[in-house]
Amino acid sequence: MPVLVRPMTIRTLPLVIRCAPLLACAALSGFGATSGTAETQPFLDKALPVEARIGDLISRLTLEEKIGLVHANGIFRSGGVERLAIPYLWTDDGPQGVREEVGVTSWSPAGRTDDFATALPPGMTVAATWNTELAQACGKVIGEEACARGKNVLLGPGINIIRTPLCGRNYDYYGEDPWLSSRIAVGYVQGLQAEQTISCVKHFALNNQEENRGTINVDVDERTLREIYLPAFEASVREGGALAIMAAYNRVRGDYCAQNDYLLNGILKREWGFQGAVISDWGATHDTRTAVLNGLDLEMGSRGAFADYHFAREFMEGIQNGTYPLSALDDKVRRNLRMLFASGAIDGRKPGSLNSPAHLATARRIAEEGMVLLKNDGALLPIDAAKVRSVAVIGENAVRKFAAGGNSAGVKAFRETTALEGIVERAGATMNIVYSEGYRQPVPHRTSKEDLAGVKTSELSAASPKESRELADRAVLAAKSCDVAVVVAGLSHQAHADDEGTDRYDLSLPAHQAELIARVIEANPRTIVVLIDGSPVDMSSWLPKTPSVLQAWYGGSEAGHALAAVLFGDVNPSGKLPFTFPKALADTPAMQGGPRAYPGVDGIVHYDEGILVGYRWYDAKKIEPLFPFGFGLSYTTFSYSNLRVSATGAASALVECDITNSGSRPGAEVAQLYVRAAQSAVPRPERELKGFAKVSLAPGETKTVRFGLNARSFAYYAADKHSWVVEAGEFGVIVGSSSRDIRLQASFSIAAPGTADNILAGAGIEGGPGT
Ligand code: BGC
Repeated sequence: MPVLVRPMTIRTLPLVIRCAPLLACAALSGFGATSGTAETQPFLDKALPVEARIGDLISRLTLEEKIGLVHANGIFRSGGVERLAIPYLWTDDGPQGVREEVGVTSWSPAGRTDDFATALPPGMTVAATWNTELAQACGKVIGEEACARGKNVLLGPGINIIRTPLCGRNYDYYGEDPWLSSRIAVGYVQGLQAEQTISCVKHFALNNQEENRGTINVDVDERTLREIYLPAFEASVREGGALAIMAAYNRVRGDYCAQNDYLLNGILKREWGFQGAVISDWGATHDTRTAVLNGLDLEMGSRGAFADYHFAREFMEGIQNGTYPLSALDDKVRRNLRMLFASGAIDGRKPGSLNSPAHLATARRIAEEGMVLLKNDGALLPIDAAKVRSVAVIGENAVRKFAAGGNSAGVKAFRETTALEGIVERAGATMNIVYSEGYRQPVPHRTSKEDLAGVKTSELSAASPKESRELADRAVLAAKSCDVAVVVAGLSHQAHADDEGTDRYDLSLPAHQAELIARVIEANPRTIVVLIDGSPVDMSSWLPKTPSVLQAWYGGSEAGHALAAVLFGDVNPSGKLPFTFPKALADTPAMQGGPRAYPGVDGIVHYDEGILVGYRWYDAKKIEPLFPFGFGLSYTTFSYSNLRVSATGAASALVECDITNSGSRPGAEVAQLYVRAAQSAVPRPERELKGFAKVSLAPGETKTVRFGLNARSFAYYAADKHSWVVEAGEFGVIVGSSSRDIRLQASFSIAAPGTADNILAGAGIEGGPGT
């Protein structure tokens, strides 16, 4: 079936020109400048509409040249038309910063000295800020660095919903909630694309586990697909204007994502009007015919000769012998050229900048704002510099660097401060800082789950049992000798931890860390546990006895400075959990159905829990989580008052309330707006996040926060009607400091039923970051 090409305007990317266009082309492509002019080659004429320019260029391309634009000719490169001085399209990982250069056809590091970049904190940390402005700032930094590094398309953000806490890539994503993920994703995409760098949102769709990601077939019902797993992609495309999307490795309802007519042609292109390019995940294309017809636009990968790719010789022969219409190829070429034009590759790109102080400052702010204070009994935190004379810093994670790990998410960081470095820099002049290693994380092999069934993460260690005991003994002595102990615990980017391509075995901390923490607390009750990881871990054996726990996540280039700022009170923590921390793995939704629900049986994983993902599950099943979605403490306290709900339309409302800093330190609070359908023809979640606003307040200060609700905020997806349905009736409007700490409630009535299509954000907070 030929693919329809509709006229478009590229809305999101201003084609800002700062440097001589043809020089820029030549430099990027490695080809010389074209001898053409705007008169002889109208695609060079900046005065023409971009679609007309693309049309002109397509009319000048030979079949071979067109085919060259739709498949890789380097690991991170496609296209290039030397005859017309059209540069290559350079893609690159990843969501946390521009990755280290590899060879054109080899994954080995290129060994360059000019490819250091700012390591931004990963997606989970960004989401934990609940600050859309920071998400945008994150995208902007990476966009500027991508320009400086000559990359047109940045392979990020990763926005798959967290279905199971075991998924190895959770740390790279935005949590369990579709609304939070959507808002953070839109911010990031817009920030990135404003810097002439195309955002390739990934992995579309349902890549919610790394285990068997290359083949697993996801069986999900339509309502769940629409309400839980697609909204962040929909918002990235429809609101964020993302010009690229990466088709995932897995299969959905039998078809590989890169060849999935329903997902690519049906939902993405027809329903959402996506005008950009669908790029395959690396090596995710399995069949020429279905990939050509079902919506893939660019085949990427790194295995074998590029001429043998599905979208190379086979596709060309198919055009020549009439198997595929030329219009199908032209549509793909047009979509690829949109990325090239919008990234400034034809007219000249912004020069960008690398590793600037401003970039590091953004990385630091995200790391600081993303930290979540989970517990602080007796106000042990912040550490009082006037009283504390010595601190024992315990744990291998205190000296470990994380930016380079995690496979495609890794960054060759220009700078990365460790936790210990940050603490010493902040407090070393006035306090005695003692370091002790405490444990040694394992380096597990990349083996399948089946092969290692029964393995307990807690017992995996790079140290022998004897060495582990000695490490712990020394840590206990250090803790005893100091006023305060800080155990820096957690995971790493090793296989079967927070890593691409593998999932965790269980929730336990590796390398006997739980025992270590318990012993340290016994030796020194003034112990703070800092968790550096991107997924929830089992805290059952030590949490009750631990006064203070700080979820620091991975923090990027400025991780150590950010951590020290929060520990010593220069920064008041304001992050909130983007996903529920369970008490036990058995409590989590995907574990309920046995292996068929995770990790799958006979190649199929059944999403039996349906829409009850994350807090929706715990609420419906009345399971007490360890820490609920949206939870996070502060060094100050906040009170909520004066909830007002006023109708702004038949199915839309303005919600306002006042928030007061009732404590004695400046701080920021994330007010969360949940909606509940009081009655419905279908089962609805107990509550669903539909707005949030982060507000900074001085002690005693009060500010009003405002949220907008529209028809989509009240709707559910009716699979039989293929549409979002708004029912008439009462809806609870619930404002909380977390999903389980509800402060204010009101209701809103909708008189007549209707449908909803409006995905646009509600109003934010006056003068501050909103939703
Ligand atoms: C990952 C993608 C990544 C690509 C290129 C794949 O294995 O799933 O996220 O962008 O490799 O490195």
